[in-house]
Amino acid sequence: MKKTIITGFICFFFISLLAACGAQKESSSGESDTAKDKTILKMATSADFPPFESYDTDGSFIGFDVELAQAIADELGYELQIEDMDFDGLIGALQANRVDMVLAGMSATEDRQKNVNFSTEYHRSGEMFISKPDDEIKDIEDLSGKVVGVQLGTIQEEGAEALAAEYGFEVKKVDDASILIQELNSNRIDVAYMDKTVATGYIDSQGFVGFDDPTTSSPGMAIAFPKYSEIVEEVNAALAKFEEDGTMEKLKEEWLSEIE
Ligand code: ARG
Repeated sequence: MKKTIITGFICFFFISLLAACGAQKESSSGESDTAKDKTILKMATSADFPPFESYDTDGSFIGFDVELAQAIADELGYELQIEDMDFDGLIGALQANRVDMVLAGMSATEDRQKNVNFSTEYHRSGEMFISKPDDEIKDIEDLSGKVVGVQLGTIQEEGAEALAAEYGFEVKKVDDASILIQELNSNRIDVAYMDKTVATGYIDSQGFVGFDDPTTSSPGMAIAFPKYSEIVEEVNAALAKFEEDGTMEKLKEEWLSEIE
């Protein structure tokens, strides 16, 4: 008798468990039509680089790269998630497969291509040296004896290292590109060396002056992916569509036109 009661209880327990599982499954499949179940597309950036990526006053990400990434996610049916990190850590994050793509005004250099894949290029920018007008730094010869600031991990870091001995300047490296501007304003560096599109924005907003780097022609900016990523092709197809249907032109007009 006792045995039957215990067996009865055990059966009841398992039946309830199964019913609960069934109910659970139903509710999750019921949600599958909503945006919640969209595959997440994880983007990393270094949000210190207006007009490509920065924060607005509410702490949301804004900029050309941010809107381009959102347009790509919408086009391909992904939910976009953005993570901010130091520029110098972006390639590593891709190599460790911690993120799906990087949009960070990143130049598609041959060196980086050894470690990551790039989309087709979406923007070309030269390089510029910017400084305060009173310092009268007008061309590359004037860099002699000066301190030139660059962001760690950028092509400008490499470029500055290569030019420093020849032109007699010192290189100061910082993690965050916006710190370069603070350093310039507080005279801890004499010159900042950066992408022209970004430099021109600071010339306009902060009253700096600048000149083009006569020594290099850098590759264009592109989206970076982990090596062998399967989404490169679909992202390239989205970029091609945006070139054709005017989306790209609209984004460039909105974010890059005033400063080119
Ligand atoms: N275009 C340069 C490079 O690829 C600098 C990019 C810096 N980007 C940034 N979000 N801080 O090295």
